[in-house]
Amino acid sequence: MIITCEKCRTKYRIADDILDKPELKVRCHKCSHRFVVRRAAAAEDAFLLQDELHPDFSRVIAISNQKGGVAKTTTCLNLGAALAKMGKRVLLIDFDVQANLTILLGFRKTKSFYEVLTGGVKHIGEAVLKTRYPNLSLLPSSSKMALLKKKYLCQHNFEYLLRDKLKAIQDSYDHVLIDTPPSIEFFTLNALVAANLVVVPSTCEYLSMHGVSQIHDIISVLKKDINREVECKVLITMYDAKNTSEKVICDKLRQTYRDNLFRTVIDKDDKMQESHIVNAPISHYDEKSRAAVQYMQLADEIAG
Ligand SMILES: Nc1ncnc2c1ncn2[C@@H]1O[C@H](COP(=O)(O)OP(=O)(O)OP(=O)(O)O)[C@@H](O)[C@H]1O
Ligand SMILES: [Mg+2]
Repeated sequence: MIITCEKCRTKYRIADDILDKPELKVRCHKCSHRFVVRRAAAAEDAFLLQDELHPDFSRVIAISNQKGGVAKTTTCLNLGAALAKMGKRVLLIDFDVQANLTILLGFRKTKSFYEVLTGGVKHIGEAVLKTRYPNLSLLPSSSKMALLKKKYLCQHNFEYLLRDKLKAIQDSYDHVLIDTPPSIEFFTLNALVAANLVVVPSTCEYLSMHGVSQIHDIISVLKKDINREVECKVLITMYDAKNTSEKVICDKLRQTYRDNLFRTVIDKDDKMQESHIVNAPISHYDEKSRAAVQYMQLADEIAG
């Protein structure tokens, strides 16, 4: 059954058995508007709006793991570029003060979320840049972003800042992908609250697995307290099938996360380093390379 928020018109699919009474009070996840759903109206909406339905799943994707160097930034760039190649309108958000995503796309000294929060731009859209690649835009990072932690970390509800600002531009994109730093702090919490899907890249190393379980714990808390719809899936990255210990850890990840693990595995591929050097997504540098094909498969798994 489909219900529509009467204020912002966001559509939700709900299980039929939830609406066991003639009326149900609900709150819109997007605009927080509270309204009453009536069984007859919900049925009519389902009939009229079926063709317009865009499932909210995987619209805002945070790429996160507090372990460093597991291909978070690489995944954000290349998954975003692969989705854009499929014709999706994609916004990448660099939410890491290291600004690696911004650098990989060839930008320096840009406006960032710092200006969005402190009034340097009037509207978040003014800080968004078009990249060289069709359908792919970027909200860059800059070193000034480091000041935001100090300014806002003690503020009540600081973790909603990104989600609230995104509302103004979210409908211009099919997917918003957020790159996060290798720690759970101001930027990561904002990204997790804004997201409805968290992709957790993990290499097949012992310590990387711990990063995965830590992010799952945080998301369990968020599901209860803040954003109940967030989904979390593990992505194996930089995999070397010839390495026995990697195979063992890969199996362990499959057993532990089962349906919460992407079928696609991203192999270690020297072409990736080369693509970084020329500031290009791998699908534009060498679309036949193994990693390029695998990131296209991942995009298909998410959006297909
Ligand atoms: N599939 C791959 N094959 C080979 N090298 C890769 C692959 N994916 C990523 N790398 C390399 O691994 C390194 C780390 O990648 P990346 O910067 O994306 O990780 P990260 O998790 O974002 O790191 P940080 O935690 O510092 O933000 C980079 O040098 C990148 O080029
Ligand atoms: Mg990174």
